[in-house]
This record gives sequence, C-alpha cells and structure tokens, in this order.
Amino acid sequence: MYLPQLLARAEKGEKLSVLTCYDASFARLLVANGVDVLLVGDSLGMTVQGHASTLPVTLEHMIYHTDAVARGAAEKAFVIADLPFGSYQASPQQAFAAAARLMAAGANMVKLEGGAVMVDSVHFLSQRGIPVCAHLGLLPQSVNVTGYRAQARDAIAATQLLQDASDLQSAGAQMLVLESIPTVLAEEVTQHLSIPTIGIGAGPHCNGQVLVLQDLLGLTPKPPRFARDFLAGALNIDAAIRDYVAAVKAGEFPGPEHGF
Ligand code: KIV
Repeated sequence: MYLPQLLARAEKGEKLSVLTCYDASFARLLVANGVDVLLVGDSLGMTVQGHASTLPVTLEHMIYHTDAVARGAAEKAFVIADLPFGSYQASPQQAFAAAARLMAAGANMVKLEGGAVMVDSVHFLSQRGIPVCAHLGLLPQSVNVTGYRAQARDAIAATQLLQDASDLQSAGAQMLVLESIPTVLAEEVTQHLSIPTIGIGAGPHCNGQVLVLQDLLGLTPKPPRFARDFLAGALNIDAAIRDYVAAVKAGEFPGPEHGF
C-alpha cells in the first residue's frame, strides 16, 4: 500500500490502526486481520532482543526485520521502519543514507525521533522521495536524558512541542507519532495539523493509535499504563488483533484512562 491510500483513509475521518511488527508471520496475520500500518519499531531491541532500551538496535538489525515484515505484508499494508539510534542524528545526509537502505528493504516510510533538531533532515528526506513519520513526546532513543516518563507536562514544553509539530509538518513530515504526552496537548496538536497524528499514551483524540504487539498480546511483564491486553478474553491471536482494530476504528481504544 502507498501513502496516498493511507492518507485518504485518515482524510475520511477513519482512525488508523497501527501495530509494531518484527517478522513475516505476524505481518501476514496483521494484514489478514485488517491492521492499516505495520511499524517495524526499534522497540524490537526490547521485545525481540531482550535489551533494556532501543539504543543497541543497529541499522543492520532494522534492515533485517523490515525485509521480513515487508515480505510478509506483501504490499497489502503500509510499512513504517524506525531509523535506529545513531543512524541519522549526525546530518541530513547520514539520515538519507540510512533511510534509503530501509526503503530498499521494503519500508514505505521511515520514522525518526526529535523536534526542531530534525527539521532539516525531514525536509532533506521528503524532498528526495522518502516519506517521513516524525515522533515527539517521549523519545525512547533519548531515555538517558529523560527516563521513561510522560513529556511536555508544563506550559513551556507544551508550547515547544506544538511548535515542533508544526515545523516538522512544514518540513514535509507526513505523519506524527505522539508518545506519552497530556491528552489535551495531543488533541491540540491533532486539531492544529493536517497530517495524521498517531498516539501512544496520548489519549483518545489522535487520528490513529499504535501499540507494541507484545503489549497487545499480554507478553510484556510490566506493561505501560496505556496498553491493553487484547488477548485476555479473546478466542485466539487473530481475534485479539481484530478486536484491537475494531476498538481503534470505533474510537473505543484508547480511552481517557490511556492518557496523561
Ligand atoms: O519502536 C516503537 O515501537 C515505537 C512505538 C512505541 C511508537 O516507536
């Protein structure tokens, strides 16, 4: 699936369902059960590799998993791949070189973390045929600076985030992940932008929702408070994924209790 088809769904007011995915088997399953977007997240550092953070994930790891997911998805879903820590922060040229390899592995879009500091890179990539999803709020690649805590909870930080969101959109970002920020701020950003916002720990007002697959399947030992185990009470994994998609589309998940 290509970007215009995905954006058309969001423009119609349809909420976008996004799940992380790291291999071909799950890619097939997610596609079969109606997930719009498969995110090859660098959360695979935790979920697949067993690390405490996303920082050890390399570009080679991301290429390997993106390739597997893209083959499983067989062009029936939109695939976003994370640019891993250290592969893009130095310059727009470095970001392009890394992003091009993820696109060649089958990604339809790349995701990168950061606000003002990423504006030039977003512009550079989007001018060169690489769709970009920006990521604001809690930035897992900056965990050594912030810890795993909700972000933008005071007025100054909230104003900065709103400005960053607007600048990233102007630079060419086509989608924006908002992670662990106050629900009212996520709502304001969503109203302010024309590109879809995808929330995680950002309350119910975004244009779509992303969950880590392992959280949805109840496999995470200490899940974040904004997660829901959709497998609990479901018949099987297919049903859990279908229930997630239906709950996102109906605006039932996330609820107000899944924000800050
Ligand atoms: O890597 C990931 O899974 C992510 C989501 C948490 C948005 O970036």
